[in-house]
Amino acid sequence: MGELCDLESGPRMVAVTGKGGVGKTTCSAATAVHLAETGQRTLLLSTDRSPSLSDILETDVFGEITSVDGVDGLDAVEMDYDAIREKWKETYGEDIYRVFSSFVSVGEEVIDYVAEAPGIADEFMLGYILEYFEGDVYDRIVWDTAPAGGTIALLEAQERFYDHLGQAPKIYADLRSLASGDLKKRPATLFEEWRELSADCLSMVQGPDTTFVVVTIAEGLGVNETDRIIDDLERHDLGVQRVVANKVLEDVGADDCKHHRERAAMHAEYLEVLEDRYASEYGVATIPQLPREVKGLEAIETVSDHLFESAD
Ligand SMILES: Nc1ncnc2c1ncn2[C@@H]1O[C@H](COP(=O)(O)OP(=O)(O)OP(=O)(O)O)[C@@H](O)[C@H]1O
Ligand SMILES: [Mg+2]
Repeated sequence: MGELCDLESGPRMVAVTGKGGVGKTTCSAATAVHLAETGQRTLLLSTDRSPSLSDILETDVFGEITSVDGVDGLDAVEMDYDAIREKWKETYGEDIYRVFSSFVSVGEEVIDYVAEAPGIADEFMLGYILEYFEGDVYDRIVWDTAPAGGTIALLEAQERFYDHLGQAPKIYADLRSLASGDLKKRPATLFEEWRELSADCLSMVQGPDTTFVVVTIAEGLGVNETDRIIDDLERHDLGVQRVVANKVLEDVGADDCKHHRERAAMHAEYLEVLEDRYASEYGVATIPQLPREVKGLEAIETVSDHLFESAD
């Protein structure tokens, strides 16, 4: 199976990953537009720290969920990490301060210190996705992830965070006996809350309602990176739905110039490698190299047609 037609009826969240610059945001937008056009309320969100969703959609979607003109039922957002950290501080800041200040003499700057800890922003970014994943506002979520390494690192950080918090109740139960004054929220309770959130985020991405689409290009580096990504996804128990070979040069004939013939031959060669490795297990979909960049709804719909047109 090549196309993504089986995505039309699930799973709930489609996460799009791949090497930098291969067309993740383009494929995410094309998938989200198509799902919305099948009548499903769809949220397209990007967690890339240098996102380009607003450019592709030609609508400013930074920081706030915004409806996309021209597609009923489609909302989009580029996540604003600073805003997410602020929201986290609003939710937990006071508790953090109380917990720390009951042990040692610290000022409220401890809240910023904890909020800057590695993994916290990612943790709460996932928590934000979880709200929509568990809520009933959207039928489908399409997640444009950061370039591959970042997504996996995020999940590894998530697993480490989870393991780390597993130790917390023990340690903080001991510390509690040293604490002076009343604690509004016991440290163990606070850390247990985080651990639960962390566990829920992991089950969200590892569960059957999330699937990964790996976008690549039919070139040597693209193929090698795809091998690494699929290996990482499988190692973390993440479901892979399809491999998408993007920007494939097609329909090049004997009359075309040498440059194009050579590139088309190279793409055909690497496409065969991708098909040998992944066609039977996951399927390989292809999108041709379009004459122009993919910008605006019409161009996005052209990509959707390639991804969702039926083979028969
Ligand atoms: N099939 C295609 N034909 C022509 N141009 C394409 C195609 N797919 C994507 N592009 C163009 O390639 C560029 C990169 O695409 P995109 O931004 O979707 O990649 P990305 O993987 O999200 O990149 P990043 O890793 O930087 O987030 C864009 O200019 C886009 O318009
Ligand atoms: Mg992108």
